[in-house]
Amino acid sequence: MITLSPPQLTISAEEYRQRRQRFLAQLGQGTAILRSAPQAVMHNDVEYTFRQDSNFYYLTGFNEPNTVAVLTTQHTEHQFILFVQPKDRTQEMWTGYRVGPEAAVTQFGADAAYPISELDSQLPQYCEKADRLYYHLGLDEPFNDCILKLWRRLLAQYPRRGMGPLALEDPNPILARLRLTKSPAELALLRRAADIAAQAHNQAREVAHPGVYEYQVQAEMEATFRREGAMGPAYPSIVAAGPNACILHYTENSRRLMPDDLLLIDAGCALDYYNSDITRTFPAAGRFTPPQQAIYEAVLAAQEAAIAAVRPGITLVDIHTTALRVLVSGLVDLGLLVGNVDDLVGETEEAKQAYRPYFMHRTSHWLGLDVHDAGPYRTPSGEPVALEPGYVFTVEPGLYIGPDTEPREGQPAIADHWRGIGVRIEDDVLVTETGCEVLTAAVPKSVMAMER
Ligand code: GLY
Ligand code: MN
Ligand code: MN
Repeated sequence: MITLSPPQLTISAEEYRQRRQRFLAQLGQGTAILRSAPQAVMHNDVEYTFRQDSNFYYLTGFNEPNTVAVLTTQHTEHQFILFVQPKDRTQEMWTGYRVGPEAAVTQFGADAAYPISELDSQLPQYCEKADRLYYHLGLDEPFNDCILKLWRRLLAQYPRRGMGPLALEDPNPILARLRLTKSPAELALLRRAADIAAQAHNQAREVAHPGVYEYQVQAEMEATFRREGAMGPAYPSIVAAGPNACILHYTENSRRLMPDDLLLIDAGCALDYYNSDITRTFPAAGRFTPPQQAIYEAVLAAQEAAIAAVRPGITLVDIHTTALRVLVSGLVDLGLLVGNVDDLVGETEEAKQAYRPYFMHRTSHWLGLDVHDAGPYRTPSGEPVALEPGYVFTVEPGLYIGPDTEPREGQPAIADHWRGIGVRIEDDVLVTETGCEVLTAAVPKSVMAMER
């Protein structure tokens, strides 16, 4: 059913300006050059939906390809400069509206804006007094070459000018740190993206029955994403029934649900590029079999213990270890692993080998403008990053016993009744002063709620 959407949430021009100020404050005497994402081609002259580069979007809010942003404190008049696609009625009639240089100034806060064709002639004035260029060497080789050529030219002039960029530095670590703490406006977007995905997951349990195809469940969920104003899926939706749940990034979504299948759904949406990422696993026919329920309860216990542990000061390594301990003790209780839990969760390669066939991924990743968001996991001294209020990440332990899974040497053989069971439970959490807020709590996950 279509109801009127709430007003679109978005990041204000003022917040983009503050982000640029915080970024500029870390550049010292350097000049940063950022490139938009390319317009990817599907085939011939048919294009994929444009997806902006997240760092570029974080600093500009500008959502077009073929754009360059420059940030510098080394120019007398301009700190934020945009090179954009020019207004062009014929081109716009074919490929859509363009902001153009004029509105890049009035609406996007640029101090100066030029058509992209003037990049070569205008860019040097913003770089020649800088002591370094901040530029991320990306996949666009011709553009990398253009920046390297400019740098080489400025280096050649250095002896006579006595100034100019002597170093090329990647700006991404600075941006990754800035992006780690979410602002109230970012949290509003993340909350809404979580709510929309939660609604889709709750609908999925209504429509998924034996006989229905995985893609039909996917279709219902993705219709909800769009109907509620999201851009679409945050990543290719995983709707994985039966043994497909044991393929971590299964996206074929082509199986017909069988009466004994568990259905693992890992799907989230993007709202103004802010993402949600939720996984639930439930029985297609409405009732867990005893082995399915046993695995489910082990994963749920691990996930709840990990979420309960979240508070400022601890790290994602601690969260992972908490989940891992509960998963491993569950596997021992079920007879799928033998040994002492302390030994089995140990950091030695030998210990990891024992649980790896059943749990082969990490428990958490940062979440934000990217689904696997840009924040650092380690400090420059190599320590895991300690959680602070405002950080957002996923908690997503799982257990997977595929048709071909082999136990490690010295571990018990896998009884047939365990085979084809894959369970993951994933929520998105925000670190608060005292603990955490589960942004995706609107999707239930108890055994009872998963049954019908
Ligand atoms: N859906 C991707 C992930 O959970 O990381
Ligand atoms: Mn996921
Ligand atoms: Mn995830």
